[in-house]
Amino acid sequence: MSIENQIIEALEWRYAVKKFDPTKKIKQEHWKILEESLLLSPSSYGLQPWKFLVVQNVALRKQLTPASWNQTQVEDCSHYVVLATLKTITEDYIGSFIQSTAETRHMDVASLMGYQKMIIGDLVQGPRSKVIEHWAQKQSYIAMGNIMHSAALLKIDSCPMEGIDPKAYDKILGLENTPYASAAAVALGYRSSEDKYQLAKKVRFPKDQIIKVLM
Ligand SMILES: Cc1cc2nc3c(=O)[nH]c(=O)nc-3n(C[C@H](O)[C@H](O)[C@H](O)COP(=O)(O)O)c2cc1C
Repeated sequence: MSIENQIIEALEWRYAVKKFDPTKKIKQEHWKILEESLLLSPSSYGLQPWKFLVVQNVALRKQLTPASWNQTQVEDCSHYVVLATLKTITEDYIGSFIQSTAETRHMDVASLMGYQKMIIGDLVQGPRSKVIEHWAQKQSYIAMGNIMHSAALLKIDSCPMEGIDPKAYDKILGLENTPYASAAAVALGYRSSEDKYQLAKKVRFPKDQIIKVLM
């Protein structure tokens, strides 16, 4: 199949799974690729204001279910990834990112000072600092999209999960009193043959209503 067809086929094959088959697990070599799809996700300035908690502990997943509108995906999926994002962006955090950039690209930290100042001016001192938690959450949704599409190309199912109580998640996952807070989650695994949603037609507005080409 051509790459063009593979992309569209995967996007059409994917749907938000309501019922996972709890007996089917993602194999390690595929999971490694999905981890990379998270790590390689882009973020504003490259700051990666996130941690991805892969909740494989059965008891923890049980506790998360009532904090997830009792959705069965939490316990039935193979891998449950909670997207946790920074509540604030500090000068120290930006400094550690600049340090990492300098090391990775064999650059002098001094040559990145202008860039560092610009980021601080925007995210720490500028108007965006008022909505920084929301800004960080937005970044994590890019990773959510990436992992779901990568999974679909591997014929691995997923369900994005916003139907969660983030405060309860923070408590259960030990995020309280840390710089991070739960934003959303993604359940990954394999659809149950009983999930009737796999037969439902995709509901999308017509292209001409959604995509406007401005010439
Ligand atoms: C950010 C986000 C959060 C979502 N949260 C949930 C959820 O908590 N539970 C659920 O069953 N589906 C959830 N969905 C799935 C959507 O309802 C679904 O993607 C949408 O209806 C389109 O259907 P499709 O993904 O099957 O094409 C969520 C989707 C997104 C993008």
